[in-house]
Amino acid sequence: MSEKHLAVILLAAGEGTRMRSELPKVMHEIAGLPMLHHALATASGLGAAHVIPVIRHQRDLLAEYIETFFGNAIIADQDDLPGTGRAVECALAKLPADFEGAVVVTSADVPLLDVQTIEQLIDVHLETGAGATLLTANFDDPTGYGRIMRNPDGGFAGIVEHRDADANQLAISEINAGVYVFDAQALRTALSKIGTQNAAGEKYLTDAAVEILQAGAAVNALPVGDAWLVAGVNNRVQLQEVSAELNRRIANAWMLAGVTILDPATTFIDVTVSLGEDVTLLPGTHLRGLTNVGSGSTIGPEVMLIDSQVGQNAVVVKSHVTGSKIGDGASVGPFSYLRPGTDLGADGKIGTFVETKNAIIGAGSKVPHLSYVGDAEIGVESNIGAGTIFANYDGVNKHRSVIGSHVRSGSHNVFVAPITIGDGAYTAAGTVVRKDVAAGDLAMTVAPQRNLAGWVLANRANSKAAKASQEAQNSSDQN
Ligand code: UD1
Ligand code: CA
Repeated sequence: MSEKHLAVILLAAGEGTRMRSELPKVMHEIAGLPMLHHALATASGLGAAHVIPVIRHQRDLLAEYIETFFGNAIIADQDDLPGTGRAVECALAKLPADFEGAVVVTSADVPLLDVQTIEQLIDVHLETGAGATLLTANFDDPTGYGRIMRNPDGGFAGIVEHRDADANQLAISEINAGVYVFDAQALRTALSKIGTQNAAGEKYLTDAAVEILQAGAAVNALPVGDAWLVAGVNNRVQLQEVSAELNRRIANAWMLAGVTILDPATTFIDVTVSLGEDVTLLPGTHLRGLTNVGSGSTIGPEVMLIDSQVGQNAVVVKSHVTGSKIGDGASVGPFSYLRPGTDLGADGKIGTFVETKNAIIGAGSKVPHLSYVGDAEIGVESNIGAGTIFANYDGVNKHRSVIGSHVRSGSHNVFVAPITIGDGAYTAAGTVVRKDVAAGDLAMTVAPQRNLAGWVLANRANSKAAKASQEAQNSSDQN
């Protein structure tokens, strides 16, 4: 079949009231992308000449998203008349008036559906010359779905919505997946005939299938092999179930591609993530957005990586990392916070209780303990002492610090930016570095230390400290 004779309509105009959410239902995310994105990616994957999402509820938000990520889609606006049948009518109005061929209808709240399943449905539809072909599934718990009614000979007889069904019909476990292929002309005619005589007072698309049957055309109802592919999301329990299943499938695919995942149930991998061979993911790891991890690296336990790149053979433990790069062989954590613009070079280290932001830390350089590194550039193989603060903010503006290579900074330094420290320079413990330090110099803040003899005995008599100091005094007197 030529692409010219294929149109795909994606239903996304419903309110999604059962989500109880400010956010439109189809914008709720699974594996890092809105359900709308998953569904539109599948709809677009069919190569059809016309891809038509139908929207109404929170129209502008959805339209902006569609225009940004699926610029070729033709947006149809549903009018005030409710129901999936009306939505399809509004979409058909966007097709050329003389369009003939197959019309696929899917829903944005059925996010796991894949291209292959729809292609198989189209094939059967065309081979049988049917007026409509729809996908069904057998669910242990069919609550909420439309039930498929069949004749004694097994042929399709109709669909009854859950809220319109009697007790016998509710016992049917075969459900309407909400995925259809229609002959365009048969669909137009059927929709023009159906009404809104049902519990919801809506124009049901499901009634069009029956209308087509009554008009004398064949209607196929084909059970899908993998029921998860057609799981619909109407509430947040279903959102979680579908999301967990997708995550399980993503984890399985990565395991088969050579990634060790200790506990897939607590490891979350967005569809947009990529991983090398022999990556190990420990429990509690979240890999989100445009993140990739190079081969041989170990991530976790309890790590969040968002839009970040990790090289090969790196280790990240119990840390939160966003918009950052971690080089080959580098190590991060436990308990560090890498904010956007952090770029840790090969074999570098960001250790424990360290926060970084806009910080380029050269190959082999280390920030091992209790530090803040903001708006800084550090050369290669430098060591930043424990408890060092890069004071980048003067209360009005942010300033940069430039630290050379092979620098050794003492513990508990403050680098008051803007500041430049030359290659190979040292700074002494406790230094507040306010002036540039030339290559090879030692900088120290000289604040003389005073010891007040006997202060504790005089001012804290009878304290444990006084007693200890007295005993120390006595024993040194005896020696
Ligand atoms: C629908 C089917 C049901 C099927 C189920 C599969 C109908 C009448 N019922 O029920 O047989 O088992 O899907 O998941 O079709 N929408 C619009 N405009 C509207 C109403 C809905 O575009 O006026 C969109 C929604 O945004 C959603 C889709 O159509 O993406 C389905 O609507 P929803 O209300 O979720 O229908 P279900 O009750 O799930
Ligand atoms: Ca639904």
